[in-house]
Amino acid sequence: MNKALSFTETHFDRFVDELIDFLRIPSVSTDPDHAKDVRAAADWLADHLRKLGIQTVDVMETEGFPIVYAEHIVDPTKPTILVYGHYDVQPPDPLELWDSAPFNPVIKNGDLYARGACDDKGQLFMHLKAAESFLSGAKALPLNVKYIFEGEEEVGSEHLPGFLTKHKNLLAADVAVVSDTALFGNGVPSITYGLRGLAYVEVVLEGPDRDLHSGVYGGAIENPINALAKMIADLHDENHRVTIAGFYDNVIALTPEERSTFASLPFDSDEWVHDVGAKKPRMENGYSVLEGTTARPTLDCNGIWGGFTGKGAKTVLPARAHVKISCRLVPGQTPDEITAKLKAHFEKHVPATMKLTFTNLHGGHGALVDTNSDAMKAASEAMEGVYGEKPYMVRCGGSIPIVADFKKILGQETVLMGFGLDSDAIHSPNEKFGLDRFRKGIDSIIRFMDIYSKG
Ligand code: BES
Ligand code: MN
Ligand code: MN
Repeated sequence: MNKALSFTETHFDRFVDELIDFLRIPSVSTDPDHAKDVRAAADWLADHLRKLGIQTVDVMETEGFPIVYAEHIVDPTKPTILVYGHYDVQPPDPLELWDSAPFNPVIKNGDLYARGACDDKGQLFMHLKAAESFLSGAKALPLNVKYIFEGEEEVGSEHLPGFLTKHKNLLAADVAVVSDTALFGNGVPSITYGLRGLAYVEVVLEGPDRDLHSGVYGGAIENPINALAKMIADLHDENHRVTIAGFYDNVIALTPEERSTFASLPFDSDEWVHDVGAKKPRMENGYSVLEGTTARPTLDCNGIWGGFTGKGAKTVLPARAHVKISCRLVPGQTPDEITAKLKAHFEKHVPATMKLTFTNLHGGHGALVDTNSDAMKAASEAMEGVYGEKPYMVRCGGSIPIVADFKKILGQETVLMGFGLDSDAIHSPNEKFGLDRFRKGIDSIIRFMDIYSKG
């Protein structure tokens, strides 16, 4: 292990240069104009794995973007880990808000700025560099490693569950390891044991069959925007709880132990709120900011449109109003269940003057992983070795739906060892990844592989 750690130390600048090459590929999965680039990122990864000396590397086709699968089996009697990551990225828009071009990475004050720097190219690359440090620095991996890197995470991982089912034997491992979450704070080590799920829908209300003069018709024809705004406002009550019937029925409640742990975490909610320029936090009554953002379900409008939104004024009574709504779910809730409840709610409350169209866009399950597994203990010890203190066990508010499938389809627990920060601006302009965290991430993974290999 020490040889691997010192290999990283010696070659770290080159590791950063290689990551910069990887980040130059604009692998935006949601944009058909970038389909070639997404494939180029898959090929780049496969080539890189081959150069490291990984035994088997394959770019496996799906009906969407390919899955890069690789494995290196040193000894079938040793533990096997399945490393997952995603090589696709979010669109960089709005471009004008970037201080440097999103696909022309730059280093400023020790941070590497680029789309995907943290989510997730920079983080998955730590696993490649940990493997290289063993293979080149210590001449061998301490355990068996399988890699699975997908190109559709940012658009809902449509083809990955089918791939897991089809290749169950190929993917057999003792535990899945994912670096695609955040640390609790800068320099504050943590391991994530909970993720939220997602239910994403679109709702359209249609009133008259065309846009109307608001002077001629206003007053007797109900306005779809007014009606939709009222329906949206009614989705929360005065306690900031979601009013959908049965919304909270299957929520697995926080345990008293979890609540007291949450309360003891080194978290400054004022600072956190000020960082995003908000005046003050606002949660469901009875819950803290940390609970509200990571362990309680939510409902948020993601976009709303209709009528006249151009320059100047136009007196129009629009024919339609649209909204995109997503719910963050917690373990116990399922996307199908919540989508059905949302649909029933809108159908029940739609005004008699309106026609409703309800579309399910996508969803994913949340996850809670076993905090006492051997792999968790190894991860904790590994991070303690790097950071000098035991990592906190935390929940993250984001979603990585495939984690639930690792359990359901492959029967594997997952270790979520991520090194991002909330302030890394993933999905936002000026995404970054601190090079100190890139380094500590590689070191933590090297230590994890070594400790876990010893059982
Ligand atoms: N890496 C994120 C998820 C994440 C973010 C976990 C922050 C923990 C902390 C992932 O790439 C992501 O963005 N997931 C999407 C869900 C997906 C179904 C589009 C999300 O959370 O919105
Ligand atoms: Mn991610
Ligand atoms: Mn993401």
